Amino acid sequence: MSVPIKKDLLSVSDLTHEEIESLLQQALSLKQRGPCDLLSGKSLALLFEKPSLRTKVSFDIAMHELGGHTVYLSPAEIGLGQRESIPDVARVLSRYVDCIAARTFSHETVTTLAQHSTIPVINALSDLEHPCQALSDLLTIYEKKGKLHGLTLAFVGDGNNVANSLLLAATLSGINFHFASPPGYKIKDSLLQQAKKSAAASGSGINLTSDPYEAVKEADIVYTDVWTSMGQEAEAKKRRLAFSQYQVDNKLLDSAKSAALFMHPLPAHNNEEVSAGLIDKAQSVVFDQAENKLHMEKALLIKLLSPSNLV
Ligand code: CP
Repeated sequence: MSVPIKKDLLSVSDLTHEEIESLLQQALSLKQRGPCDLLSGKSLALLFEKPSLRTKVSFDIAMHELGGHTVYLSPAEIGLGQRESIPDVARVLSRYVDCIAARTFSHETVTTLAQHSTIPVINALSDLEHPCQALSDLLTIYEKKGKLHGLTLAFVGDGNNVANSLLLAATLSGINFHFASPPGYKIKDSLLQQAKKSAAASGSGINLTSDPYEAVKEADIVYTDVWTSMGQEAEAKKRRLAFSQYQVDNKLLDSAKSAALFMHPLPAHNNEEVSAGLIDKAQSVVFDQAENKLHMEKALLIKLLSPSNLV
């Protein structure tokens, strides 16, 4: 009997447009269905080098509600690459659990884990990408707007891991992607080249600018994220200065379409990237985003661990 080839989710670009559509349908169905036993007896290691509220809790509850269980491994417990080499951690965990969800500083750490594991590895955030966030956000957009293709998402802020994954997810799904950042904080060229190919195939457009008002004009979604990501704390003061004209406030949000959604992956820094009180406005869907991580991660886990159970 042939052994099935394991599949990882390290980048949004590991998925096709059709696979993203299937994950959305699966997540919607699981959201309706609630707890079930599709992953009974399966286990997931949560291997985290950085703090997390949403990703950690949502993966934990996702496995629990699917009949499986999780083991949380904090940075202090593992000493990834210090107490033990990354390849050895991957090989050992592959003998105990069915899947690893890893949150790492360096993207290379998550790719090395995948290379040396015999089980699927999910990128639960690296310095390059946050694919689970972007896929969950597509679910939120789809629920709120009833479609993806033809919408325009404006990301105002840093070309960080969330922006990178959103760019890839949007262009694969036919969403126009507008991006406004100060010079020096743009999206990496290699990701842009990849996204341009997806945009050409899906019929979406990419608009890069340094003007946040140009980016949000005609936008259906205004999205921002922290200016200083985890691991960049030493740059916080410099970044606050560089991004001072890039705060999403009422005036900027009002320059988008009147029914525009406000999105943020959280945690938010009030009066930095978002003005105080904006996340409480009716246009804000930030807590739906947080909830949808649970439903999308369930869909992902089923896809990687028990694909015969996909709807
Ligand atoms: N949005 C997100 O990934 O949140 P956490 O860092 O709390 O997991």
